[in-house]
Parts: sequence; C-alpha cells; structure tokens
Amino acid sequence: MQEPPANLVELNAVTRVFAPPGQPPVSVLRELSLTIPAGERLAILGPSGSGKSTLLNLIGGLDRPDRGSVRVHGRNLAELSDRDLAEVRNREIGFVFQLHHLLPQCSVLENVLVPTLARRDRPDRAALQARALDLLERVGLSTRREAFPGTLSGGERQRVAVARALVNRPCLLLADEPTGSLDADAAAALAELLTTVHREEGITLVVVTHSQELARRMDRSLWLRQGQLLVQPTETP
Ligand SMILES: Nc1ncnc2c1ncn2[C@@H]1O[C@H](COP(=O)(O)OP(=O)(O)OP(=O)(O)O)[C@@H](O)[C@H]1O
Ligand SMILES: [Mg+2]
Repeated sequence: MQEPPANLVELNAVTRVFAPPGQPPVSVLRELSLTIPAGERLAILGPSGSGKSTLLNLIGGLDRPDRGSVRVHGRNLAELSDRDLAEVRNREIGFVFQLHHLLPQCSVLENVLVPTLARRDRPDRAALQARALDLLERVGLSTRREAFPGTLSGGERQRVAVARALVNRPCLLLADEPTGSLDADAAAALAELLTTVHREEGITLVVVTHSQELARRMDRSLWLRQGQLLVQPTETP
C-alpha cells in the first residue's frame, strides 16, 4: 500500500501575477514555497495587500498559480478534473472566507449545512444535522439557528461561516481572518474551538490573522512580505 504523504500541503515555487486591464501587472506571490505537515497549526501574518487571501485561495484550489504547483495530499490541484477538484474542496477543505459569503435567503442552520448538500457519498442527514447544531452551540449561536444572515452582526456571521467550514469534518481548514470581526471574548472562544477541533479531529489549520494572540496559539507563524514567506517579520515597509 502506498504511504500517504507526510505533508498535507506543498507549494513549490508558486508565482501569482495579477494583470488588471490597463494596469501594470503585479506579482503578488513570487516563487513561494511552503510545506505544511498534516496536523500542523500555521498562522499567516502580513500587511494588508501582501497576498494572504491570494495564498489561501491557491491552497484551497479556488485560484491557480501562474507558475509553480500546489499539492494537497500529494495531488497537484492543476491536474485534477473540475469534478475532482470540486470534490477535494468540498470534502477535504473547509474555507472561512474573509467576507463570509453566507446565503442570505437561508437560515443560519441551513447555511451551516450547505457544504453537506454537494457530497457524493450518502451522508447520514440526521448525524450531519446534529454536527451542525453542535458546532452552532460551540460558536454560541444555537439560539439563532433559524435567523437569517441579514439579521446577524458581522461577528455572528463570521461564527456561522466557521461552523459551515467545519461541518464536513475537513482535514484542512483555511480560515481568512476568522476573528477579524470579533470582540476579545468571542475571539478567545473561537480560538478555543479551533484548538478543540485540532485536538479531537486532527485537523490541519491555516489561519490568516492580524491577531498576535491567535497566532501564538498556532504551532508556527509565517509572515508574507513582498511575495515571499518569512519566519520573522521585517521592519521595512
Ligand atoms: N482578482 C484580482 N485581480 C487583480 N488584483 C488582485 C486580485 N486579487 C487580489 N489582487 C491584488 O493582489 C494583492 C493582494 O491581495 P490579497 O487580497 O491577497 O491581500 P491580503 O493580504 O489578503 O490583504 P488584506 O489583509 O487586506 O485582506 C492586492 O494588491 C490586491 O489588490
Ligand atoms: Mg485578505
């Protein structure tokens, strides 16, 4: 039997250039390489506009590099069919978007269950519902399960997005500023939830954050600067 790769994520010399019409191209990521062992908790820090969301989108298969490769579980995402890529995104990766992206016409509980709808296996719906309700309880929103996103605060929406990202028990959670709209208590509760799912489910965490406090709870922190990942922050702008 083939051994599973020890590294869950491998980026090899990834370059991403944005070239909006009429404007000079900008190299946001430059030959960036990164390996993330399974089970690691990694914080990505860096100034606004440094490319943190771009990096998460590439790891999550939502965007493709111009050069270099992105591997998840040893598979080069660029070589997967659209169908297989969608399956990897749905079953293996949980995504907490910076802008949450909740469906406004669906209740909180329905939003949390959205990723379960596209599953190709035949999941036990009652177990998924129980999982969704448990996650809502853990993010402090079980009493709001029938509410619509338009009636929630920014921080509450953010917590729904975290529950949604975890509902399918992904092996990799990519979270873009998951505590950005939260007060200190809610941020601490969310950090606790991430710690618990890491311990209980062995999930690999990649968390983009401006919070040094959240970063300290991770195993490793890397700073994104001028298209490259650094172990230490640099002082120069
Ligand atoms: N689709 C796109 N087209 C053109 N430029 C883009 C696109 N996506 C991102 N960029 C540019 O790439 C750079 C990095 O953007 P990105 O969103 O990755 O930054 P970030 O580090 O996540 O910032 P923030 O902390 O503000 O969220 C920015 O200058 C942004 O304008
Ligand atoms: Mg961002």
